[in-house]
Amino acid sequence: MIRTPTILLVEPTFYDVSYSINPWMDPAAWARDPRGMHRNAMQSFEALRAALGRTGLTVEVAAGAPGLPDMVFPANAAVVLDGRALLARFRYPQRRGEEAPFAQIFGALRERGLLDEVALLPEGCFQEGAGDCIWDAGRGHFWAGFGPRSSHEAATAVSDFFGKEVVALELATEQSYHLDVCFCPLSGGEILYYPPAFSEAALRELRARLPARLRIEASADDLSHFSVNAVNLDDQVVMTRTTPHLRTELGRRGYQLHEVDLTPFMLSGGGAYCMTLRLDRSSGPGIAAAAA
Ligand code: ARG
Repeated sequence: MIRTPTILLVEPTFYDVSYSINPWMDPAAWARDPRGMHRNAMQSFEALRAALGRTGLTVEVAAGAPGLPDMVFPANAAVVLDGRALLARFRYPQRRGEEAPFAQIFGALRERGLLDEVALLPEGCFQEGAGDCIWDAGRGHFWAGFGPRSSHEAATAVSDFFGKEVVALELATEQSYHLDVCFCPLSGGEILYYPPAFSEAALRELRARLPARLRIEASADDLSHFSVNAVNLDDQVVMTRTTPHLRTELGRRGYQLHEVDLTPFMLSGGGAYCMTLRLDRSSGPGIAAAAA
């Protein structure tokens, strides 16, 4: 497995917004100027790649495939921990075609030694990758979203496969159809989250596990700018658009915010985190801790 911070992106060569499987997706807006939109998407992608590189991440870029526009969101392709990738199973037929090309991409990463194992999810449940199953490095467990996309049973399957606790949180709205839209653990132990996205039971679970000083409540404005869907490495945070609220809340805790305009991808319901997948997540002590 790879131990340095490494993140996977998928090139938007075949990206468009041609169907709608979440309330943010706007095929009509895309259709008004498909060439212009595509050009902007390519530019936004390059800006994201550069911003991730500046935070200290090594960026791996894989190719997309024709007819599968949402491959640009590799967060949904697999859950990866300790060099082991558990491939996703998508709920909607529009995205199921991604499973085969992503299996090839992960197979190639294994051949290059970046992964040790690539495995299939057991039958009978949906699980949409790290978008719905987020590793919390400080607490040593996964947080899993279920409801709109991933099944509740997927939490057990992930837990059995990785041998780690998975805390399942029910997503109560279609707007936050994946956990990563409304929930982001940060390196200092804080969790940035949008409370109205969760069921009452999920909120009770969150409040029981997190002291108030570690809960940062996102606003509806933060959510609609896809600012909760952020990539965090140490004190660096990359997001589509910073909002005044988050500049204050994260700034005073010492985080540095990097803004990358990802408007063409927000038209598909995605932000910075969705467009990435960390390949080096490890359940052991980090490099810094191991070296200390
Ligand atoms: N159009 C994609 C979908 O609805 C967007 C996925 C964004 N990914 C994410 N992890 N939230 O599936």
